[in-house]
Amino acid sequence: MSLALPLAMRWLHIASVVVLLGGVFYARMVVGDLVMSFKPVAYGAMGGILVSGLYNFLSKSSFPPHYQMWFGIKILFALHIFAVMILYREGKRRSLTGVVISGALILCISAYLRWMSLK
Ligand code: HEM
Repeated sequence: MSLALPLAMRWLHIASVVVLLGGVFYARMVVGDLVMSFKPVAYGAMGGILVSGLYNFLSKSSFPPHYQMWFGIKILFALHIFAVMILYREGKRRSLTGVVISGALILCISAYLRWMSLK
């Protein structure tokens, strides 16, 4: 039972990330613009990412060397994505490109954070 909450939070983090980054990737690469009706979905995903990310971070028992530095860099990229999603207006294709790039970098950093935590 003690595994249920961490597992649920890990699921929430990954599911919210899939919805947010997948939606923006589809908008940028296939449609060419982000439909405004995606915004409430994006806000929901951002809420899920924040709640589960904070839980993941606060429930860590120890931090390997350099963990905080890479985590800080990840948060800066996440703030970039959140700011673009909040301020987005139709036709801002360049900012969608920025989200796709920041999202890809966050995925690399997150994989590294997980790897250094398990090693
Ligand atoms: C768009 C923004 C974000 C993306 C794309 C993202 C993506 C990811 C991914 C793919 C993982 C690996 C999941 C796993 O293997 O369990 C992860 C782990 C994690 N994320 Fe995020 N995340 C984002 C934002 C955040 C935020 C805002 C926080 C903190 C408030 C956060 C905190 C964490 C923590 C603590 C981990 C665990 C890393 C470890 O294994 O030590 N993330 N994130």
